[in-house]
Amino acid sequence: MNARKTSPLKKRITFSIVILFLLFVAIQFVHPKIDNPPATGDFKAPPEVKNIITRACYDCHSNETNLRWYDKISPIYWQVAGHVKEGRHHLNFSNWDSLATADQKGKLWEAVNQIIAGAMPVKDYVTVHPSAKVSPEDLAVLKNYLMSMVHNKPADIAKINALNKQSQGLVNFAKLPQAANGITYIPDYKNWQPISTTERFDNGTMRVIFGNGVAVKAIHDNNIHPWPNGTIFAKVAWDQLQDKDGNVTTGAFKQIEYMIKDDKKYAATKGWGWARFKTPKMVPYGKDVMFTNECVNCHRPLKDEDFVFTMPIKN
Ligand code: HEC
Ligand code: HEC
Repeated sequence: MNARKTSPLKKRITFSIVILFLLFVAIQFVHPKIDNPPATGDFKAPPEVKNIITRACYDCHSNETNLRWYDKISPIYWQVAGHVKEGRHHLNFSNWDSLATADQKGKLWEAVNQIIAGAMPVKDYVTVHPSAKVSPEDLAVLKNYLMSMVHNKPADIAKINALNKQSQGLVNFAKLPQAANGITYIPDYKNWQPISTTERFDNGTMRVIFGNGVAVKAIHDNNIHPWPNGTIFAKVAWDQLQDKDGNVTTGAFKQIEYMIKDDKKYAATKGWGWARFKTPKMVPYGKDVMFTNECVNCHRPLKDEDFVFTMPIKN
């Protein structure tokens, strides 16, 4: 063996490494700028809420992006810059004051739901920045804050009573309306427990979600992965009216939707029977059984939660 002579293969490898290194150096000069313009009206919330949001979301959703040294190395940097630009565009906590009160609530609602769904903070970002992780305790703090801002029980009862009045004489209770997949309108939901209230300021509706006895027991027993057969959810939506000061009142009844759990009977539609009835006359939605595709597709991101969006909030 001749150790002094470098083999052609070794030479080629050395050459490739040098080229790669030079390339790596060169791309460091391709650096789209991320600047931090002054905040025009920073997000205000109790400190425990503000701390979580700052720690987990501000790098991409504020003008206070704090890049670590490893974020500044291209090509990682390119991805980071893209996230920041897009993140700020969708939601910027530094311009919070520019949103109407109702829109602020809407954004917070969306933020909590994005966290619950595991979509935010962005996963590969958390892998590299573990301090941005939102723990279940953090999430509980955020949920509580959000719930303290939205309407609660007494208003819901008033809405239900109004709906009952609207429907009187319009629905034939001897022959209940039936959806294309055979599911009938279930009037009994009024006696179920409201398990969540949401206001979607983005599309102008207010919703109350009710759970039947099986659902309520499952929540109590923490037995919701999957939800047991017999669980039924009813989601009721009203138009939401808002005056110029941001005060919100309930408008006309829009629709009621059901999800009925039976993993055998409804195996073809992810274990749930889906139905929607519209207007106080409870007109079934959907021309044929295919209407359920629409329901399943939109609920699919929650497949790890058994296709259910609502995270019951325990008192
Ligand atoms: C690494 C960057 C990054 C972090 C950290 C991050 N986000 Fe995002 N966020 C984005 C990007 C990019 C988008 C837009 C694209 C998308 O929806 O995936 C977005 C979109 C959103 C949206 C949708 C806004 C809209 O109007 O469509 C919400 C809500 C949101 N993020 C909330 C949060 C919350 C809450 C946190 C902290 C718990 C967080 N994000 C952390 C990058 C980030
Ligand atoms: C555009 C997306 C979308 C479509 C389409 C959709 N849903 Fe939903 N659904 C949601 C969201 C989001 C929630 C969470 C509560 C809320 O935002 O009001 C929800 C909640 C529900 C709930 C309460 C239980 C839960 O998952 O939280 C029921 C019941 C329901 N939907 C039934 C239906 C039925 C039946 C259909 C089809 C006729 C349908 N949905 C179609 C988005 C959708």
